[in-house]
Amino acid sequence: MNAATELIARQHLIDPEICIRCNTCEETCPVDAITHDARNYVVDFAKCEGCQACVPPCPTGAIDNWRNVTKLKPYTLDEQFSWDVLPGRTELDDHVAEVQADIPAEVRAITNVANAGHGGIAVPPWSASHPYVNLYSIGNPIAATVSGNLRLTGDDASSDIRHIVLDFGHKPFPVLEGQSIGIIPPGLDANGTPHHVRLYSVASPRDGERPHYNNLSLTVKRVTEDHEGKPARGVCSNFLCDLKKGDTVQVVGPYGAAFLMPNHPGASLMMICTGTGSAPMRAMTERRRRRRELKEGGELVLFFGARAPEELPYFGPLQKLPKDFIDINFAFSRVPGQPKQYVQDVIRTRADKVAAMLADDNAYIYVCGLKGMEAGVIEAFRDICAHQGMDWEKLRPDLLAKGRFHIETY
Ligand code: FAD
Ligand code: A2P
Repeated sequence: MNAATELIARQHLIDPEICIRCNTCEETCPVDAITHDARNYVVDFAKCEGCQACVPPCPTGAIDNWRNVTKLKPYTLDEQFSWDVLPGRTELDDHVAEVQADIPAEVRAITNVANAGHGGIAVPPWSASHPYVNLYSIGNPIAATVSGNLRLTGDDASSDIRHIVLDFGHKPFPVLEGQSIGIIPPGLDANGTPHHVRLYSVASPRDGERPHYNNLSLTVKRVTEDHEGKPARGVCSNFLCDLKKGDTVQVVGPYGAAFLMPNHPGASLMMICTGTGSAPMRAMTERRRRRRELKEGGELVLFFGARAPEELPYFGPLQKLPKDFIDINFAFSRVPGQPKQYVQDVIRTRADKVAAMLADDNAYIYVCGLKGMEAGVIEAFRDICAHQGMDWEKLRPDLLAKGRFHIETY
């Protein structure tokens, strides 16, 4: 490397045209390099370590922008705050591209795969359908009409979780199971700026909540307390849970190009979720239920955690599904007289089944729901592998590279 090359750095930037200001990147960044004003989300060159932890969670891909700059003259925060669009490629970008062109394609490909899931590009199952993303942005949202709002949790349950159906009329809004949409809550925040977009997983299959209708459903929990248990009124969840039939909602998206289901016959799904993390699992299960008579094979195994049966969204319909169609494992944490169980505890009780699926290239694993669950599930996988003569640390990158392991926690 010569002295001139040492002065070049890759600067991480956010595309202001695509960014939906959902705050996910700022929450994710481990070194607090991302900040925002009323206009833009920006990355502090002095703090960013290029770890890319923020890249996979970004729903739009706006976060994944890089420019080659000289270390002495990166784009400042003030410059980034003022942008309406990203600056074009620089001479340095062209120079670096020329240098990289000399690196054999196989070497670049190996680097990309090794990065998958470690801040690199997350990949979908090989047989996933191609998703549409970013069809609608904050500057160009689509209006959806509420065609249903049903409480899913029992009357005596502590949480209010709702099944909300949005109809898009004759406007296109194609989605796949596993994708999310963004909702723009009406009104302004305490600083007088528009509320940021909140994301919600689609809970219905690709052909609609009602088959062959241009609609989709969401599973929304009314947030009434913050993560520490203090009273709080969640802006968007309360707006959604209070909607009436006929109301209009501003929607952006769709988002998500990796947390998608495989389409090939014989593919099995292991679905692990808590609370509203059941939304994408419901979408995938319903997709498979509607195609059952095609007898395409492949198993469905569900691990579902909730406080108690009455707190479980879709508990009734789930229980009606035949045992040979789906293998359901509940974990209840607050049933009086019963020991507290989390999904990871139940996963351990099914160690043989889980190990067989982890080892099966036709099995795809999905985790969605509480952020806190993620570490527990990974720990359970690590232990199960150790007992079955497998090495989780080696298996994990392989699962990621094959699009077999997908996590969406919030
Ligand atoms: P805010 O006004 O943003 O927050 C109010 C207070 O509550 C804050 O203190 C905040 O820290 C705290 N808080 C925020 N969320 C929670 C929570 N879940 N539990 C406890 N305290 C909280 N939500 C769903 O209900 N269903 C989904 O299918 C769903 N899918 C998602 C998919 C993705 C990819 C992501 C990133 C998030 C998803 N969420 C989902 C969460 C959703 O985007 C909102 O964060 C959630 O509805 C809270 O928004 P709010 O505006 O009501 O609360
Ligand atoms: P808990 O009773 O300890 O809150 P919620 O109802 O808040 O959406 O949570 C859904 C389920 O996830 C609850 O049973 C909750 O148990 C459980 N849970 C909470 N923390 C974790 C964790 N770290 N790992 C797995 N499950 C968890």
